Amino acid sequence: MDARKPRLLTGDRPTGPLHLGHLVGTLQSRVKLQDSHECFIIVADLHSLTTRSRRDEIARLPNHVRDVVLDMLSVGVDPSRSTIYLQSGVPAVYDIAILLQMLTPVARLSGLQSIQDMAVNAGLGDADVPLGLLGYPVLQAADILMANAELVPVGADNETHVTLARDIAEHFNDAYGKVFAVPQPTVSATPSLPGVNTVAGGAERKMSKSAGNAIWLKDSPEEVARKVRTLPGPAPGESTGAPLFLFAEAFLRDADELASLRAEYDRGGIGFAAVQDRVIEALEKILVPIRERRAEFAADKHRTEEIIVDGTITARKVAYETLGKVRDAMGLENLWSGLVHATQSRAEERKKPFYHQKS
Ligand code: TRP
Repeated sequence: MDARKPRLLTGDRPTGPLHLGHLVGTLQSRVKLQDSHECFIIVADLHSLTTRSRRDEIARLPNHVRDVVLDMLSVGVDPSRSTIYLQSGVPAVYDIAILLQMLTPVARLSGLQSIQDMAVNAGLGDADVPLGLLGYPVLQAADILMANAELVPVGADNETHVTLARDIAEHFNDAYGKVFAVPQPTVSATPSLPGVNTVAGGAERKMSKSAGNAIWLKDSPEEVARKVRTLPGPAPGESTGAPLFLFAEAFLRDADELASLRAEYDRGGIGFAAVQDRVIEALEKILVPIRERRAEFAADKHRTEEIIVDGTITARKVAYETLGKVRDAMGLENLWSGLVHATQSRAEERKKPFYHQKS
């Protein structure tokens, strides 16, 4: 790892495998940014507990963690350059989070659309929102600030969280002295990919893990083709904004080819099946190497586990170092070590460790 490169932190909750929407939204840029940045990739299992803390939900985490990490490796996240880590394996982050909570007005959290959306999706009424869900962005700030990440690529739904992390960092640095790098959100400019029509209205919504309208990175070529063929053909002349053409825009790399495909369709020269064929072909070009890499990593179960453990050990070091600086800056380290030192010197004088100890 090159220490001179700026640091980047991003990641996902392990709630299931990743899909094409993730690929165009974040994964492709994550792979590219490995050249210019030192990357930390979080598998945010604590964040998934904010809405899924039942025992059976926790029991599914090992599989989900493995799926997400395999998906990342298969698209080209390179564990020799990127630190992939498991959030709950880094307890110093909770210590940092609790201190950051002291600097966060509840009013900054309670109105957030993202929290309301997560509550609604989890079927939680106002009275049932756990404190952990309200504090979701503060925990995320701890993730970002513990790593001193400068760049945080996220989807639009997470932008307010990174802004909060930036504000907390500035507030902390002003109040206690400079400890944190001030992070910048980088919101993906890629328009979100629509879903497929495997469920009614699937293509009218954005592709999502829970909507039943996703093409998974691990889908077979047959599944990919079947799903693409559920995308309806728009009326000729109305290709703009139609889900099938949004797929074409996302996956046909050649702008001229895309333009001529659209023009031909709009003047009635070809039917929608031909456009679907082109989309499938373009997708396969992207998915074949992804499937190959996935199979390679999946063939050795222990390799994925070691990548996670290795990355988490690195993240633990970084987090403990930052926690030490935070405790120093806030005076908490002095409070504790001052007590310990005074106690130690008195104990040496009287040759007995503690007053209250029976002799
Ligand atoms: N909130 C992110 C999600 O929706 C996951 C996440 C947790 C994250 N901590 C982060 C993303 C820090 C970027 C930086 O899945």
